[in-house]
Amino acid sequence: MKHFIDLKDIPVNDLRKILKDAKSRKNSRGKLNILEVDNGAPLKGKLLVQMFEKSSLRTRLSFYLAIKQLGGSTLTLRPDELHLSKGGESIEDTAKILSNFGNAFMLRTDNDKKLKEFKKYLSIPIINGLSPSSHPTQILSDVFTIEEIKKKLISKLNIAWIGDSNNVLNSLIAASIKFSFKLNIGCPKEYKPSKEILSYIKKNKNKISINHDPKETVLGADVIFSDKVISMNDKVNKIKKLNHFKRFRINKKLMSFAKRDCIFLHCLPRGSEVDEKVFLSNQSKVWQQALNRVHVQKSILLYCFGKLR
Ligand code: CP
Ligand code: NVA
Repeated sequence: MKHFIDLKDIPVNDLRKILKDAKSRKNSRGKLNILEVDNGAPLKGKLLVQMFEKSSLRTRLSFYLAIKQLGGSTLTLRPDELHLSKGGESIEDTAKILSNFGNAFMLRTDNDKKLKEFKKYLSIPIINGLSPSSHPTQILSDVFTIEEIKKKLISKLNIAWIGDSNNVLNSLIAASIKFSFKLNIGCPKEYKPSKEILSYIKKNKNKISINHDPKETVLGADVIFSDKVISMNDKVNKIKKLNHFKRFRINKKLMSFAKRDCIFLHCLPRGSEVDEKVFLSNQSKVWQQALNRVHVQKSILLYCFGKLR
């Protein structure tokens, strides 16, 4: 049994195995309908319990389809219906019940400590479906999408991030260190990665640079990533922050400084950080990116269950 909480803590060989499995599973599905089960139904009879303390469309749907396609099923709990959220039950007791009734637990949380606490008391795998500090299932899936489109290992590509220093970027930084790819981060100087992330970068062999000029950031890029300037539960002066980011808006002009075949990725939902003309252009691969989460999360589930081929 394995947990999937933060890319930083997962050996790159395991991440590579997940990507390889996802590729062969995606290829072998052929024309199967969305709810049809993969050959061998490797997670037949298994129940994934999901809980979202923050909104979600893609993560919710993609985990639902992922476990279904592996022959299992999912149950989504509403936090406001549990005793836990009202202080009427501890994480310890909740975790013990989840472990007896389910086979894996996917949590989207507004507090990283909860992932640690649950992990301590669960005897089933826990998957981080987004926390304030990271979004590992998203970024592993994005590595898959990039390699699928570019038909190259990500270590041979230049990745640019234009946007806030948030959970998604933190996972992209971890991925850059694990898979050894070049990552240029462009953000206003007021919104650099946290001290903790900067020291993680420093402590590891890395190909990461941070600057405050969007044009510099995207020169020679194969991929430009972005995310909302204001994340869920971001307790900031929103008008001030949006103003700081105005010159980092991704438009056709900015895209023209990257490589000609540069693609645009965004985990979604989007805000004002990208122009409609870029978002809806042929360079934008956001729909493929979103759908690939099903394929990669299937292999993440199999990894957690110790059933990767
Ligand atoms: N990208 C992503 O995690 O989307 P949701 O918030 O809709 O799950
Ligand atoms: N950074 C965003 C990602 C949403 C999928 C947020 O945390 O709201």
